Amino acid sequence: MIMDSVGTLSPFNSPTVKLDRLFGTPRVEVFAKLDLLQLSGSTKERTAGSLVDAFMRSGQLQAGGMVVESTSGNLGIALSRQCVVRGIKFVAVVDENANKSALEIMRAYGAEVDLVLDPPDGNKLAARRRRVAQLLADNPGAVTTNQYGSPHNPEAHYSTTMPEIMEAMDGRLDMLFVATSTTGTLLGCQQYVREHGLATELVAVDALGSVLFGGDSGNRRLPGLGAGIVPALALQSEPDRVCRIPEIQMVRGCRRLARREGILAGASTGAIVSAMDQLLPEIPDGSRIAFLVHDSGVPYLQSVYNDDWVRDNLGEEPELDTSQSLEDSSVR
Ligand SMILES: Cc1ncc(COP(=O)(O)O)c(C=O)c1O
Repeated sequence: MIMDSVGTLSPFNSPTVKLDRLFGTPRVEVFAKLDLLQLSGSTKERTAGSLVDAFMRSGQLQAGGMVVESTSGNLGIALSRQCVVRGIKFVAVVDENANKSALEIMRAYGAEVDLVLDPPDGNKLAARRRRVAQLLADNPGAVTTNQYGSPHNPEAHYSTTMPEIMEAMDGRLDMLFVATSTTGTLLGCQQYVREHGLATELVAVDALGSVLFGGDSGNRRLPGLGAGIVPALALQSEPDRVCRIPEIQMVRGCRRLARREGILAGASTGAIVSAMDQLLPEIPDGSRIAFLVHDSGVPYLQSVYNDDWVRDNLGEEPELDTSQSLEDSSVR
């Protein structure tokens, strides 16, 4: 199914809902944009659509063509879907660390998964890049989408994510919280805010251990947010604030959102919940704040939502208060 727009909004339009129970205070209005409802399950549905469409518009890619990308995460799943509905072959280049269920989803959409075995020098990233280059050379006309540097990544969020949020919020938004990896989502929202002269403050929510925005490299286990190398797009991203969230707080943020609002989200959204909780005391009364629910929690059932995994891997109790009830005013 190629989704054609039937109204003035984009075909990717997802609901924006008001959350009264998350922080239990009437002081600040909190809204969530439910991108976990995208057909491929994440915000990357928008990014993948924009990246593939740009190639098709330019004539570099047609039905019957091939897209090659080094990805084993949400972008790979989204590209699998976006390519299948356009009659394009998609090859995902992955390494042995790739999440097995993500690979199964890509295969279910008809994508080819190209597994690169661990190279003798241990540099998996370089090995995947070499394999992408080889596939491009072997398949004339094949393209690679370059989500880390392509302007069509932020373009997706400039032209769909941010206009949808502003429409849903009647044009009144004081703060927007976005998790960051390529920083494409944030950058597209930033471009929209600047071009429309909005006063909306943009908060980048990053993982502790990510090198984005001057962060120090460290061990990270949960996928979705953060980066090990500064991507080209990040050089243009200028959030008003950056919050760096440790993984245990992502876990607690996720569980709080599930228990209080019935929204089962992934780690990056848990990080956002934790960041909002931290900043809440400084946010002026009457403010309207929004955040993206970037993906679903189902792929995280064996990590974020598994008590043993949390104890074994993060060395902490998953929740300080097992009920995460409204009386518990902190996720920290
Ligand atoms: C789970 C998740 N977290 C965060 C993001 C934001 O990532 P980026 O900075 O690459 O736009 C996305 C984007 O789709 C995502 O799927």
